[in-house]
Amino acid sequence: MTHIGILGTGLAVPKRVLTNAELETMVDTSDEWIVSRTGIKERRVAEEGTASSHFAYEAAVKALDGAGLNPEEIDLIICATVTPDMAFPATACLLQDRLGIGRIPAFDLSAGCSGFGYALTVAASMLRSGPYKKALVVGVDLLSRITDYEDRATCVLFGDGAGAAVLGSVPAGFGILASELGADGASGAALQMPAGGSLKPASLATVESREHYIKMQGSDVFKFAVRIMDEAARHVVRSAGLNLEEVDWIVPHQANVRIIKAAADRLGIPEEKFFVNVDRYGNTSAASIGLALDELASSGQLKHGDYVVLVGFGAGLTWSALLLRWWAGGSTSG
Ligand code: UT7
Repeated sequence: MTHIGILGTGLAVPKRVLTNAELETMVDTSDEWIVSRTGIKERRVAEEGTASSHFAYEAAVKALDGAGLNPEEIDLIICATVTPDMAFPATACLLQDRLGIGRIPAFDLSAGCSGFGYALTVAASMLRSGPYKKALVVGVDLLSRITDYEDRATCVLFGDGAGAAVLGSVPAGFGILASELGADGASGAALQMPAGGSLKPASLATVESREHYIKMQGSDVFKFAVRIMDEAARHVVRSAGLNLEEVDWIVPHQANVRIIKAAADRLGIPEEKFFVNVDRYGNTSAASIGLALDELASSGQLKHGDYVVLVGFGAGLTWSALLLRWWAGGSTSG
């Protein structure tokens, strides 16, 4: 059995910062409301003319550097995104081209904010079972492109960014020890972008009715998030034969500090073990967990041998959870 772990991580965010003070001038909101209800102080917004593949590339280069690998050593690319550069070709293919890698499989995966965990799990199982040795996984979203800046209930939440990881073989006992993916399609209407697909192709009418923007039943997603983070995190920890007390770090999807605090409370895990950067980036969807994991790892707080849970939820409604034992030894020969 090949053991698969993360060999390197990277992140990329736009330079432009959108503060709560600026949002106060755009919609009827306040810094006080946003901070107390979400914990978000600022988020990044991509400059016009940039696209998901640009940030995916920047994050990927850093992850490759962290793993000590050249692009040509990668033999699989998966991009998790709901804001691809365009409907097709896949952003993963645009990234492959930009990295100058020929002929390897490259595809996108749509699982909303759970996308990074979905992509890690799919890539790991392809590495375990197929001819592939090293995979590049990128979670990237430019939610600012589909955010309605006239809707105060959503526009204060979202931001743009990319998080990347390079996967490859690690010694037994390290890397991904357990993972769980799930979906509840029956609740999908709680979080959607109604137009722009085959059901409602773009038309003057869909633009006028603002159906190319995120529509969300915030409190329904909130309740789902708290319950599923508790259940999925518990499940992966138990599957790996560990207790919750043995977990060193939880890297949750960064949607709202209140969701994170509620999940910490239900799990009985101290909040200090939850890595939080939602205050600086808002909810970056598929990028969120990769971005947070890279900050945690590069800050030196995540140590070799630590047990870390990555847990997310999002459009679908979907969820993903992984338990890893952190490998800081770089790329092995496998
Ligand atoms: O990645 C997955 C995607 N989504 C999420 O994770 C989001 C999950 N949900 C949430 O984080 C929370 O539900 C929100 C932050 C979206 C909303 O917080 P809430 O505590 O559930 O507030 P609410 O929707 O119940 O709204 C409370 C009040 C309402 O006013 P009334 O009806 O009580 O008079 C809203 O109109 O707050 C009002 N409100 C705002 N007020 C000022 C909603 N948005 C704003 C705003 N500024 N930006």
